Amino acid sequence: MSSFGQDLRRWKLEEFRPRDGEPIPTDLSFRDVVSLLWRHPALWATLCYRVAHWCSTHGVRLVPSILEKVNLVFFGMQIASGMPVGPGLYVAHPVGMVIVAGRIGANASLIHVCTLGMRDTHDFPELGDGVFVGAGARVLGGVRLGDGCSVGANAVVLRDVPAGATAVGVPARILTGKAAERPEKEWATA
Ligand SMILES: CC(C)(COP(=O)(O)OP(=O)(O)OC[C@H]1O[C@@H](n2cnc3c(N)ncnc32)[C@H](O)[C@@H]1OP(=O)(O)O)[C@@H](O)C(=O)NCCC(=O)NCCS
Repeated sequence: MSSFGQDLRRWKLEEFRPRDGEPIPTDLSFRDVVSLLWRHPALWATLCYRVAHWCSTHGVRLVPSILEKVNLVFFGMQIASGMPVGPGLYVAHPVGMVIVAGRIGANASLIHVCTLGMRDTHDFPELGDGVFVGAGARVLGGVRLGDGCSVGANAVVLRDVPAGATAVGVPARILTGKAAERPEKEWATA
């Protein structure tokens, strides 16, 4: 549940993309928490997942599956409660999200109507730290998205994406050249 603190910090900083998977050293007052929850219902969906995951890893029965349904009915997000997700999860718009992965690292950014799930066998994606998945992107099968990599809007990722790389298109290809060499710090406040 302490992971939710970092989820809130991502929203406080309004960081579209994280720099890495490190803890975010930002103060969070009670007033901040109330204000963030008031302004961003997407955080409620994340909180729902955090509570469901805590329950599923602490032997609390029934509650995870109820909260999964609450998330789906109230926020339109289908997210597996048993899946481990590192702190600092940023789900910009929960409606239409399907998130079923082997694991998701710290400071992930999932923007809108992303699908992380199986392809044709029962294998699921694994996301490293600081991964960005743009709107409408699909990440299918047992692929690995390396630390700090980005998946462009509407991409369909069927192969591993190396750390720090950017994948775009259908099927996704890795961006090379000038765009790919852009220093990561330019992203910090983008
Ligand atoms: C993929 C992304 C992260 C790359 O950003 P970037 O590193 O700044 O890359 P650039 O914008 O310089 O584009 C580099 C090349 O990739 C192409 N490209 C960028 N995003 C693309 C995408 N989603 N699909 C296909 N091609 C894309 C560009 O046309 C450009 O091609 P060119 O070199 O032939 O001109 C970004 O374009 C993106 O898709 N962000 C998602 C934003 C989002 O989800 N917004 C929703 C808000 S609700």
